Amino acid sequence: MTDLAENQISTDSPLGEVAGDQSSMPSGSVALSARPEIIGGPPPGAATLEARDACAWFGDRLVLEGVDLVMPKGKVTALIGPSGCGKSTFLRLLNRMHELIPGAALDGEILLDGNDIYAVGTRAQQVRMRIGMVFQKPNPFPAMSIRENVLAGLKLARLKCDDKDTLVEQSLLRAGLWKEVRDRLDSPGGALSGGQQQRLCIARSLAVYPNVLLMDEPCSALDPTSTRRVEETIDELRGEVTVVIVTHNMQQAHRVSDLCAFFLAEENQPGFVVEQGDTLEMFSSPRDPRTLDYVEGRFG
Ligand SMILES: Nc1ncnc2c1ncn2[C@@H]1O[C@H](COP(=O)(O)OP(=O)(O)OP(=O)(O)O)[C@@H](O)[C@H]1O
Ligand SMILES: [Mg+2]
Repeated sequence: MTDLAENQISTDSPLGEVAGDQSSMPSGSVALSARPEIIGGPPPGAATLEARDACAWFGDRLVLEGVDLVMPKGKVTALIGPSGCGKSTFLRLLNRMHELIPGAALDGEILLDGNDIYAVGTRAQQVRMRIGMVFQKPNPFPAMSIRENVLAGLKLARLKCDDKDTLVEQSLLRAGLWKEVRDRLDSPGGALSGGQQQRLCIARSLAVYPNVLLMDEPCSALDPTSTRRVEETIDELRGEVTVVIVTHNMQQAHRVSDLCAFFLAEENQPGFVVEQGDTLEMFSSPRDPRTLDYVEGRFG
């Protein structure tokens, strides 16, 4: 595989069809227009992510075994399953965060539009720029202003953008937060509500225009209204970004995802995927009885 850094962003790439659908933009008087130029950023658009025979260890303990999963371009894929079955571990394999854990090891391939993100010569930082992540607990930089928070990822990756005002506005619009914060962009990020902080973290991830956004239980610390708002945001990102979301909330998986993968770890065994496929089909007529038991709340 070639170095991901070779894929430079084009200078005038529009956001695509989503940009044209301004009727569905709940938060903005300002329409999404052409995305600002970011020198050195990811190539434009969503990308397909594929795991082939992915395995993960902590020390000598195998915790995830033989995961084959395609997360198609522009779709929302939900990862469901009981606690401890390896969903977060799998998510961390997808953007090279697993390797940051001492003693952690992995096997298999993770392909981003066909290119192995673990190929020799591929830099983890470049991969993480293309595959962003939002965590369970909102983690904005509390003392930094809202504007600085949005631009933090850009700064960290040393990307250059000459039109930061537009970038901040577009990122907050895409995260569904613009309307609520446009008059206080210089206030600290820590002064926002939990739900707003989570959308600020989404805006921060979106500011580098990732091809994929990974979300690990992004609503588990939020109230129902904020949860709904984040779900609307995910819905608006569909088509534009590939989303992979871990959730314990079956209604949420049902509401937001196009595809679903059910992970399970049987006693003292590594986690694996029991079943995967179209979300509606998996919820209405799962092939495996364990999936039915799980989605109907009989265990986990
Ligand atoms: N840093 C770590 N060191 C050692 N073992 C770990 C580490 N992180 C996770 N594990 C183990 O790996 C297995 C999978 O954990 P993981 O966090 O991926 O599960 P999960 O499906 O995300 O669970 P939850 O739904 O509770 O978040 C578990 O047995 C867990 O104890
Ligand atoms: Mg987890």
